[in-house]
Amino acid sequence: MEHLVTFSIHGDIGVIAINNPPVNALSSGVPEGIKAAVHALEARPDVRVIVVIGGGRTFVAGADINEFVEVIAGRGTMPALHPALFAIEDCAKPVVMAIHGTALGGGLELAMAGHYRVATADAQVGQPEVKIGLIPGAGGTQRLPRLAGVAKAAEMCAFGEPISAREALDAGIIDKIVDGDLLEGAIAFARSVPGTRRTRDLPVTPADTSEIRRKLRPNLMAPLAALDAVEAAATMPFEEGLRREREIFERCLHSDQCKALIHAFFAERAVAKIPDIPKDTPVYPIRQAAVVGAGTMGGGIAMALANAGIPVRLKDTDQAALDRGLATIRKNYERSVKSGRLTASAAEERIARIAPQIGWEGFEQADIIIEAVFESLALKKEVFAAIEKLAKAECVLASNTSTLDMDAIAAATSRPQMVIGTHFFSPANVMRLVEIVRGKVTEKPVIATAMALAKSLKKVGVVVRNGFGFVGNRMMFPYMEQAQLLVEEGATPEQVDRALTDFGMAMGPFGVADLSGIDVFWRIMQEFPQEFPAAAGSMRASGIEKLYAAGRYGQKTGAGWYRYDQNRKSIPDPDVLALVQKGNRAISDQEIVERCIYALVNEGAKVLEEGIALRPVDIDVIYLTGYGFPAYRGGPMFYADMVGLQGIYDRVLQFGWKPAALLERVAREGKTFAANERP
Ligand code: NAI
Repeated sequence: MEHLVTFSIHGDIGVIAINNPPVNALSSGVPEGIKAAVHALEARPDVRVIVVIGGGRTFVAGADINEFVEVIAGRGTMPALHPALFAIEDCAKPVVMAIHGTALGGGLELAMAGHYRVATADAQVGQPEVKIGLIPGAGGTQRLPRLAGVAKAAEMCAFGEPISAREALDAGIIDKIVDGDLLEGAIAFARSVPGTRRTRDLPVTPADTSEIRRKLRPNLMAPLAALDAVEAAATMPFEEGLRREREIFERCLHSDQCKALIHAFFAERAVAKIPDIPKDTPVYPIRQAAVVGAGTMGGGIAMALANAGIPVRLKDTDQAALDRGLATIRKNYERSVKSGRLTASAAEERIARIAPQIGWEGFEQADIIIEAVFESLALKKEVFAAIEKLAKAECVLASNTSTLDMDAIAAATSRPQMVIGTHFFSPANVMRLVEIVRGKVTEKPVIATAMALAKSLKKVGVVVRNGFGFVGNRMMFPYMEQAQLLVEEGATPEQVDRALTDFGMAMGPFGVADLSGIDVFWRIMQEFPQEFPAAAGSMRASGIEKLYAAGRYGQKTGAGWYRYDQNRKSIPDPDVLALVQKGNRAISDQEIVERCIYALVNEGAKVLEEGIALRPVDIDVIYLTGYGFPAYRGGPMFYADMVGLQGIYDRVLQFGWKPAALLERVAREGKTFAANERP
């Protein structure tokens, strides 16, 4: 264990180094090592001041989340940080913390136990625990208010966003920014300090936190809990505040929300592992790209590529369409510049990477060609036949189709093994999800390339199999159908949407439908009459038909499930009820949530059964990153496991639906989707 923490002596300065790569997480052994080193140096008469520094690329990026998982599962005990922190704070010699990279979570708590802190200019500090459903548990909520005041501490602990060294300096969290070598700077600083200064002895500046409280979601536990803990610092002595923090921490740790958020945190890594595609599968380097179709999706995909530094040719059929597409791209970049997210020159650089054209010039050099033309199989086959004549042999041929048969598209070429679906979500320059659709014969390096590309675009690729609507959209149809049936039976669109946003969905189903376009849904239903009964149980709801016939296409026509004012603000519309409502039963929010969410779960089980999705976690990631499912519920399949599959199965039968065979079996066996999936 010794090697995790080492110390050395530089004149009259003792230096403690933490060496637990890659991020110096405070795993078991590290706090103990720090404590021992502090005691050893404290006892040395030649040492006057102690400096603590992180070895490698960072100070301490946080606790080891795997250890939390063990504790939650009842297999371990909480790593004891407090003894190490008290050893530092109570040390008779001044302790200076030297921060580079990040001091996050337990890392910042460690730093705050020191008497002084210096940091490099590019360092960041923060208390991001709320992102996994926790609050700082090692004094962070008590020491931070003493350094930065209650207001700043409340903001940092409740929102979890890291701040820069500069901000930390202004807030009083660090004492100095060091230019040049950190250790040298820290040692020089250490020689100048007057004596010890225990953070816990500093007075707390109280503040009104009601403004922050108002910004928090009432059903999200950890941020509110963090606020409570920070406020305790202003009203209680330090030791009592620590006890309060511990109680609140424990309550969060054993909450369903914490389990769900930790699941969501690890889920993105889990989906990157595809059992039959080992890590060493060769990939085709993507240096140049080409996109066919400069519409909503093609433009967004071109931006995503340009943002990642990949030059991209963007082709459309005529100048007018191309100009429209480019105008949208320009407008999007201008918006980023106006909001300060991008400098004007960076935006120009990105725009310059996008080469608009009507012809096919340069396509022979492209490493990947992504097709994003209208959703028509005949048209896509035509485009792929043309692409194939130009593309080099090792070019990946991708389609952005959201509903069409990828194998049929691949069959339009003589190299179907090079064809793959890359289903981006709208707006493609923003949304992180890419469903990667492997066809029957897609070769493994092509799949690995698509995954690597998604990663380099800072997106999350989830590999799925070919099938109507793939995973996300296919599950959406029964969900939407239930929403419509609820309105037919007596609910209002605004009640349904509110019940589901209260549940945590980013948007309700009717808000989504109006944004995507009723005409789009209608067209899909027309084109796939055979798919609908299979995909959606039975598409008994007729709302879409009626709205379509009334010309209510959604936001684009000023009316859909809602009416819209000039600012596109939705207004409940009694005309919709007159059009679609058949009954006037009072419907509870609970019924709305159960019917809509269990429809997702039941269809998700079918998707698993058919092997369209590989694992429950793949479905979860798709819904978390592409459909606004709340992370604190972990995704639809994780949520189902938490609720209990037997209960869901019973409700499915009560609703008169056909249960997925997998749901039935796993519920009977008393298992969870997750446990069923583990060998
Ligand atoms: P869009 O209608 O906005 O754009 C299609 C573009 O393709 C138009 O600019 C059109 O001029 C161009 N085009 C048509 N034929 C062409 C050809 N032969 N060669 C070159 N360009 C041609 O459509 P959108 O929404 O961008 O959809 C594109 C694809 O993305 C479709 O397959 C759609 O299903 C899929 N998709 C759409 C999503 C959305 O939210 N709009 C989400 C995910 C996928």
